[in-house]
Amino acid sequence: MSTGDFRQGGILSAERSPVRIAAYADLHCNEELRGRLRIELDRANREADVLVLAGDLTLNGRLDEAEVLADELRYVEIPVVAVLGNHDYELNDQACIAAELENVGVRMLDGDSVTLTFGDRRVGFAGVKGFCGGFGDRLIAPFGEEALKAFVRVGQDETSKLDAGLRQLRNGHDVDNVVAVVHYAPVRDTVVGEPPELFPYLGNSSLSDPIDRHETDVVFHGHAHYGTPFGRTPAGVPVYNVARPLVRDLVVHVVR
Ligand SMILES: [Fe+2]
Ligand SMILES: [Fe+2]
Repeated sequence: MSTGDFRQGGILSAERSPVRIAAYADLHCNEELRGRLRIELDRANREADVLVLAGDLTLNGRLDEAEVLADELRYVEIPVVAVLGNHDYELNDQACIAAELENVGVRMLDGDSVTLTFGDRRVGFAGVKGFCGGFGDRLIAPFGEEALKAFVRVGQDETSKLDAGLRQLRNGHDVDNVVAVVHYAPVRDTVVGEPPELFPYLGNSSLSDPIDRHETDVVFHGHAHYGTPFGRTPAGVPVYNVARPLVRDLVVHVVR
């Protein structure tokens, strides 16, 4: 989807070069992947213009695990855009993990956005980790105990942050396409395959509200290791679950 002005939605847009987005999540990087991940990611160098990493970058949220990933990413020759996942928060060292990756050029997103230019096309990326909460009319309601309200509020805050990032792209930047990156699933479709009892911990469908409202072109997420690779938001935006344990190889989506 594009906004409807002539330049973005009309004849000229059709003439713009396509952009190939490689996406992957749940690398759960540690020392065991040293030397291996660079081989797996090399396909992105050959087949894509940008690499998106949708969280759970480390196995246990350790800085030395992020250092391994940073070393492996030195072999990636295209821009890398990423969000953190819940594993990266395990030791409360998420800021250092993000900084380690930013040091090797990764654009880490957490409620903000970045715009990249590929030839004659400008693509904006907005991202957040997201949170639990459930889906549709089963979304957990902020009612009763303060602890439950606080839990729900975390999810609401993540959705607000994604809204801000996407709005920034649509209002402040002259972008042709918008990509959303989250760790938790924004739709139920892509968690199907997991035990139903886990669904409320795998994603939060309120994330799909700003995705649809800001006419996002495509969404990538992870976290649901045993989910489904592809789904759509209520407005029809394509959603890819690119969790490595599920897809086992980079997913490449072409934006036209
Ligand atoms: Fe994971
Ligand atoms: Fe996760």
